[in-house]
Amino acid sequence: MGPRTGRASILLCVVLAATLGGAATAGPLDFGRPFLAVDPYDEVAAMGRGMNVLGHDPVWTDPTQTRFQARHFRTIHNAGFSTVRIALHGLRHMDSDGKLDPAWLATLDSMVAAALQADLHVSLDLHYYDECDADVPGCAARIKAFWGQIAPRYQDASNGLMFELLNEPHGKLDAKTWNAMLPDVLTIVRATNPTRNVVVSPAGWGSIDQLKNLELPAGDRHIIVTVHYYWPMTFTHQGARWVSSTANLSGIRWGSTEERAKVATDFDSVKSWSEAQHRPIFLGEFGAYDRGGADIESRIRYDYTVARQAEAHGFAWAYWQFDSDFIAYDMTTDAWVTPVLYALVPPADTHSARNDLTVGTRRPALK
Ligand code: GLC
Repeated sequence: MGPRTGRASILLCVVLAATLGGAATAGPLDFGRPFLAVDPYDEVAAMGRGMNVLGHDPVWTDPTQTRFQARHFRTIHNAGFSTVRIALHGLRHMDSDGKLDPAWLATLDSMVAAALQADLHVSLDLHYYDECDADVPGCAARIKAFWGQIAPRYQDASNGLMFELLNEPHGKLDAKTWNAMLPDVLTIVRATNPTRNVVVSPAGWGSIDQLKNLELPAGDRHIIVTVHYYWPMTFTHQGARWVSSTANLSGIRWGSTEERAKVATDFDSVKSWSEAQHRPIFLGEFGAYDRGGADIESRIRYDYTVARQAEAHGFAWAYWQFDSDFIAYDMTTDAWVTPVLYALVPPADTHSARNDLTVGTRRPALK
């Protein structure tokens, strides 16, 4: 086999691997148009409506068990969404030296490529739970090691790909610790991605009342600030076993005039901070738990209210989440949970949304 044939065979293998979604390296996959620096306000405007995906999917530990398929990115796009936020438990897929598992990276490559090819913006979000409780310096080193591998890997990807440095800093990563760690993490990203938009959350679980404690490097103008909104927790997390204060609650309704007005005033305060700091906002998570005893009418009224208020305040948003819990999509029937979808993307808004949905599904009243 001469060198030409060899190259052709390698190319064929690469194309085949990419087609099957199983390529092992970043290079050959298509990560969208060449990178072009974009103002973060323009990026947020283009991100619009989004969906959290893959947070609890078995694909990360065993790709043969995947629930989420690459085609679901197209399903999400066709239903009227422009963004996906991919929740990554990257700190759990490293060896003791901080090296990311090549198989896990290959899965990530195929998901990123498929999402970008479906014309979606993609926020790669580093999620963690208790990994930083025992050893903060050790955890900081692993967070840096994570971005030290992910940032160069995707440095040529389209600007539609964004890096979200850390989901909901909490526990020992309080505002002081997080503010001190953040510039170092950002410096690692900036070494290979000087003008890519990076998404940053305040400490205190990304709660909106923590924005005032977030300190950002003043000279870096490619930052999008993200917050999460689950207030009131007694409603959104009733019956959720992972939140002890609300785990035993059920039957709490939501949607009074006062409750809806509170979302607007809460977002007014976010908007004031955003304007004062000149940082655009991505509401990266909101929603109400689906299996905890909340009624569906209250849940969709909540989803509708939060999504519309975010839009009225100029924030991009992403619903938590597509599959697993709070579900917008039912993997067992491979179909949208239409009341949730309709609350997020009102059917009149997009032609494709109308075409994609089951005809005859009653849209619950939104009062
Ligand atoms: C956070 C958690 C996630 C949880 C969600 C809603 O993103 O990391 O596990 O399901 O909030 O509580």
